[in-house]
Amino acid sequence: MKIAVGISGSSGAIYAKLLLERLVKIEALELALVISDNALININLEIPDFNPQSWGIKEYKSFDFNAPFASGSANWDGLVVCPCSAGFMAKVAHGNASDLMSRAAQVMLKERKKLILVLREMPFSLIHIENMRLITLAGGIICPAIPSFYSGSSNLEEILATVPNRVMDLLGLNNQSFRWGDI
Ligand SMILES: Cc1cc2nc3c(=O)[nH]c(=O)nc-3n(C[C@H](O)[C@H](O)[C@H](O)COP(=O)(O)O)c2cc1C
Repeated sequence: MKIAVGISGSSGAIYAKLLLERLVKIEALELALVISDNALININLEIPDFNPQSWGIKEYKSFDFNAPFASGSANWDGLVVCPCSAGFMAKVAHGNASDLMSRAAQVMLKERKKLILVLREMPFSLIHIENMRLITLAGGIICPAIPSFYSGSSNLEEILATVPNRVMDLLGLNNQSFRWGDI
């Protein structure tokens, strides 16, 4: 499988870290990374010691349309934007493909591949809700950064990890996590 991960400019850099930690463990997964300039601001603010490049994932610049997943012909399997800003979601909803991450999102939709947006915003305006509706109708998955609490864990990282764990499930990738009913 070939999966691109985008980090956009919302709060919640920890979700990107937890997701990438899980993805790099999957052998036979080809990964690529795009980080927006605004995402870098949030990463530095929220988890300054997080260096997404440390895993050696191939990283592409924001306007590198030569990246393979910028074209449907490369046959990539999906794009996860984690965390996803409301501004980035708006671009996707309205067909804006002016940079690599937004172009890749349009590619996934047109090719009927997986597009997962881990939206981090609150509260929602009608515009956000309409954009979520449009993307859902187009085949994308809005997987908001809303952790669950029913595992009973009081460990913050474990609670936050319920979000990337769900992304792994949506991608169909093996991942050990709390499963309701397994106790
Ligand atoms: C510290 C900080 C936190 C932010 N948090 C959010 C957020 O949680 N959700 C969101 O939609 N935008 C948030 N923003 C605003 C986005 O960064 C802004 O809309 C930006 O244009 C999005 O850029 P992108 O296209 O790289 O995602 C935040 C900005 C800053 C500086």
